[in-house]
Amino acid sequence: MTQPTPARLPSSHQDPSHPAAARTTTFAPRLAALLREHRGKDVFRLEPDTIGVAGHELADRILSARRATEVERPTFKPLQGRSIPPSEAALVMRTVGRDVREALKRPLPGNIDLSGPWPHTGHVFLRDLILGGDPYRLRILMSRNLELTTKLTWSVIAAGAALPRPLRARPGHELTALARRTAEAGNYQDRRYAMGMYRRAAAPVCFTVSTLVANALWLGSPFDPSVPNRNILYEAMRLLPPSWNMLRNASPEYPELDPAIGAGDDILVLPLLSQRDPALWEHPDEFRPERWDALDPDTAPGYLAFGHGSERCWGRHAVMPLAELLLDLLRNEGLAVSPKQRSAKVPLAGLLGVDEVQVTREGHCRSRCRPLSNGGLHRACSPCRLFENG
Ligand code: HEM
Repeated sequence: MTQPTPARLPSSHQDPSHPAAARTTTFAPRLAALLREHRGKDVFRLEPDTIGVAGHELADRILSARRATEVERPTFKPLQGRSIPPSEAALVMRTVGRDVREALKRPLPGNIDLSGPWPHTGHVFLRDLILGGDPYRLRILMSRNLELTTKLTWSVIAAGAALPRPLRARPGHELTALARRTAEAGNYQDRRYAMGMYRRAAAPVCFTVSTLVANALWLGSPFDPSVPNRNILYEAMRLLPPSWNMLRNASPEYPELDPAIGAGDDILVLPLLSQRDPALWEHPDEFRPERWDALDPDTAPGYLAFGHGSERCWGRHAVMPLAELLLDLLRNEGLAVSPKQRSAKVPLAGLLGVDEVQVTREGHCRSRCRPLSNGGLHRACSPCRLFENG
């Protein structure tokens, strides 16, 4: 079993001759400290007013004790000071779901090139795939630069909402259903709110899915052709959960669940730790997608990648087919992490993932045969020889 070193987790691949075995993942110091000091513990104090929970039974009891309040909800927390009623949240999610399904039905462009830096490349591909018909004023809300400050996001939204021109689809395209909601807003205030909602609902699709796929590529590419995409994605979310913590503010239900929890303590439930708990997972640090042949992600103890059974992620039915599409495109093109890249950082951020992964065709064949660990080509495979000959 691989034991973590302070900040770096080397060789997460079980096969030492696989290219992924040469890669080292460096976690931000606070994430590394969590893994080093608290992995395998059920409950522990993180701050004077915050308790960490990594034990799966206690996590289960905490998350079942009550529903998340509106301020604890990552997507539908209040927008511009307005609460978002559950009926509106459900409608927006149905709208996004419809836009994703429509995008998946359309034929793909013929000139897709997913090589380059990830997650950026995947983000741009998804933005154009799903929101390609929407005007620049809306698509710019997907910009990764807007992650820098909320103020910047609101400035861009305010500027877009103030433009007198009506929102129209780009020539030859149709507006997404989400953009139509924005187009229907009758005045500046409503347009500003609708654009904020567009960003809230559409941005996670591009951000989270591209991050998830970048994590998967880093942990295990090039993938064995026999391994299903779903197993790859569930295993990537186990080791690098994009949603690595769930916050619950202090609440009277919690102190009754464990003596370590005080009346004023906020709780941070940590899938990052429970999903690497050696008591729950064989070879917890190793990327073993085949473990999902026999496991159900909805019931595996400690597995909270899409949240808890009491209220799972509402976006997961859009996330999985998009992530699978990306993996199909990457795998069919023989794209994988460049053999030259040996290390990647995982910064401390709300969305957990490797910061930049260079994806290339270098050293990997265009068909689905397995590349050699030294970055060379598989000599027994004729498509590889074709590739070798240009
Ligand atoms: C890799 C992708 C994603 C992962 C791993 C993920 C994970 C999660 C998790 C763990 C929760 C539970 C949070 C809690 O209980 O505190 C959650 C809730 C939720 N997720 Fe996702 N999510 C993903 C993508 C998305 C996307 C793309 C959308 C929307 C388009 C979305 C919408 C929601 C909503 C609406 C909730 C319910 C709580 C809320 O209002 O925010 N998720 N998600």
